[in-house]
Amino acid sequence: MTFTLNDTAYGTDTPAAKHAMFDDLRSQLTGLVHGESNLVANSANFSSLVFNAMPGLNWAGFYFLQGDELVLGPFQGKPACIRIKKGRGVCGTTVVEGKSIVVPDVHAFPGHIACDVNSRSELVVPVRRPNGEIMGVFDLDSPLPNRFDQDDADGIEALVAILEKTLV
Ligand code: SME
Repeated sequence: MTFTLNDTAYGTDTPAAKHAMFDDLRSQLTGLVHGESNLVANSANFSSLVFNAMPGLNWAGFYFLQGDELVLGPFQGKPACIRIKKGRGVCGTTVVEGKSIVVPDVHAFPGHIACDVNSRSELVVPVRRPNGEIMGVFDLDSPLPNRFDQDDADGIEALVAILEKTLV
């Protein structure tokens, strides 16, 4: 099978279609992580699942905190920046603010870090340890302006919650 940039299986042009996609992704992810607690394996499959399902992405992946830096984790897309200081860029700001950030236009976000010049909009969701402490972020990039909305943030947060339950 030949994959293009993002071989999507879903149309998400209506809220109902988007909800159906996230319903399906939650059930697929639950199956993928079932009985497995390895963070690298589960976050790699997570990235692949999301990247191949959601239309209009050019990057999807994790950064995990080591001290005061986020370090690149499993992802799908072009090679990316390896280290991002806490508080820097959209990813580092998400760690500091402790909540998901939707960026409709990356050029309008002060301090945005451009790993891929084609990225125009972004969604970053925090990942937490069982004790609630932030351990990293899941970052989605799109070449389309205004690609992500609150439904996407809610949908990805629900997927991240499934991943978080595998952390022991
Ligand atoms: N744009 C991000 C950097 C990570 S890349 O997009 C993969 C940021 O501003 O934090």
